[in-house]
Amino acid sequence: MIVSPSLLSANFGNLANDIKMINDSEANWLHLDVMDGVFVPNISFGFPVIKYIQQLSTKPLDVHLMIIEPDKFTNEVRDCGAEYMTVHYEACKHLNRTIQHIKEAGMKAGVSLNPATPVCMLDDIINEVDLILLMSVNPGFGGQKFIPGTLSKVKQLRSLIERTGSKAIIEVDGGVNDITGVELARAGADALVAGNYVFKSPDPIKAIAKLHAI
Ligand code: DX5
Ligand code: ZN
Repeated sequence: MIVSPSLLSANFGNLANDIKMINDSEANWLHLDVMDGVFVPNISFGFPVIKYIQQLSTKPLDVHLMIIEPDKFTNEVRDCGAEYMTVHYEACKHLNRTIQHIKEAGMKAGVSLNPATPVCMLDDIINEVDLILLMSVNPGFGGQKFIPGTLSKVKQLRSLIERTGSKAIIEVDGGVNDITGVELARAGADALVAGNYVFKSPDPIKAIAKLHAI
C-alpha cells in the first residue's frame, strides 16, 4: 500500500522533526493539505511553508488543494516541487482545462471528490488524470470519523478504472487507520492518506509501517 502521511496533524512548532521522522519511515509520499477558509471552513498553510517543507523532505510531495480556483496557483505549486497536484472537482469550473494546466506544468494531476459527490462525475475525465483522491470525511479538519459509504465508492471507482483502462491511482483521505485501511485495500484503494493515525500514535514510524504492510 502507498502511504502518504498528512502533515496537517504534525507539530507545527517543530515541523522539521516530524518531516525527518517521515523521511526515516516507509512512507511513500508526504501529503500536504492547503486550505483557504472558503472552500473549506479552515485555513492551514500556504506556499512559503511548503517551499520550506520541500527543502527538508526526501519524499515526493502529494499536494491536496482545498481551495477555490486552484488553477490560479498551478505555477506556485510547481515551484514548490510538487509531484502530485490534486484539486477538488467541486472547486473547478473547467476541470478538464485545470488538469491540462497541471500536466503542462510538469506535475501529475489529481482530482478529489467530496463525500457527497458521486463517482460518475469522473466519467469524462478518468482517462486524463493520474490520481483520484476520494474524501472519506468532509474536508477541512484532521481527526474525523471515517464515512463507511466510501468503501462502495472505492469499488465503483475501481470498476470505472478497469472499464476505461485508466491508469489513475485511487487514494483515500480521512479517518484512515489500520482497520479502515484494510477495508479500503479490499475495496480496491492503492494509496492511503493518514494524519491523526500516524501523528497521534506513540510510535509514528510503526504506524506508517503498519499501513504500508496492508
Ligand atoms: C482533511 C485532510 C486530510 C487530513 C486527514 O480535510 O484532507 O488530509 O489531514 O486527517 P485524518 O487522517 O486525521 O483524518
Ligand atoms: Zn488531504
